[in-house]
Amino acid sequence: MKRFIDHSELARDRRFVRQNNVLSTILADVEDNVEAVVEAIEEHAPLIENSVRGTAAEPLFERHGPGMLLVRPNEPMDPAHPAAATQLRLRLHGVFVGELQALEGAARSLWDFPDAPWEFQMNMARQCWDEARHVQTFEKLLDHVDVEPGMFPESTFLFECACSEDPAMRVAGVNRALEGLACDVFRDTIRYAEASGDETLRQAVDFVLADEITHVRFGSEWVREFTRDDPEYGQRVQDFRREVDRQFSFGGARSARKDASIPIAREDRLEAGFSPEELADLEELSARGPSSETLREALGVLRERHEARRQAG
Ligand SMILES: [Fe+2]
Ligand SMILES: [Fe+2]
Repeated sequence: MKRFIDHSELARDRRFVRQNNVLSTILADVEDNVEAVVEAIEEHAPLIENSVRGTAAEPLFERHGPGMLLVRPNEPMDPAHPAAATQLRLRLHGVFVGELQALEGAARSLWDFPDAPWEFQMNMARQCWDEARHVQTFEKLLDHVDVEPGMFPESTFLFECACSEDPAMRVAGVNRALEGLACDVFRDTIRYAEASGDETLRQAVDFVLADEITHVRFGSEWVREFTRDDPEYGQRVQDFRREVDRQFSFGGARSARKDASIPIAREDRLEAGFSPEELADLEELSARGPSSETLREALGVLRERHEARRQAG
């Protein structure tokens, strides 16, 4: 079996539609300016349209045009909002494919580094077992909100960013950045489940979150172990994790900002081995990017242009 596979080689059956990973980085790299956001989105309009064709996200494109990427990505999920059900379905599908990628990431860590210590291999094996259970849990939660696997496009962005060929960077990317993002998403999903009175969702995600904290802790401990005698290497690994975390902040959608749709799960991360300094740094680096007001205005402009094009065409 091949070692160090590319994200494009992840195998999926025919139900799944692969989305271009470029779409996940648009907001991470754009400044807080309406025109800049509109331009960045327009530039990728054909990619966005192609990525949703034939999926349940197609009506969103019909309605908003390429601006669909901005539909409330940067605001807290509110059960009373008319878009909440769609937002939850998109989020749970994103988590489901994220769990598949986490399973593949952990399994690859086991396979790609055969000379790593036995305890490392045991930790990765334990994680595979957990992730396989999470895939099944979220498969059931998809059913709970009436979504089929593959109904929305899948981006393999998480796998692409998190997987490095260096063992310390691998666990920094997969276990600290990706699994850390999972903690943030799950803590917020629990909040949403409580607000909407969905006890099934709350309990299921609470169980999964407990495992994710352990996975982040594996990352925190193994980065320390792998880089123990080499501070310069330790710094490079930390820089890699910071860059992955910048991309996983999606232009402030995951941040400590008031308008963030995914707040940083501070307490969970402390428990998982993030230091207060690392958290302060994460808050700082994730807060950059367009504000929800900028995104709202940009969405308005994009919708008008989309409407004008439809009438003209
Ligand atoms: Fe998981
Ligand atoms: Fe995990």
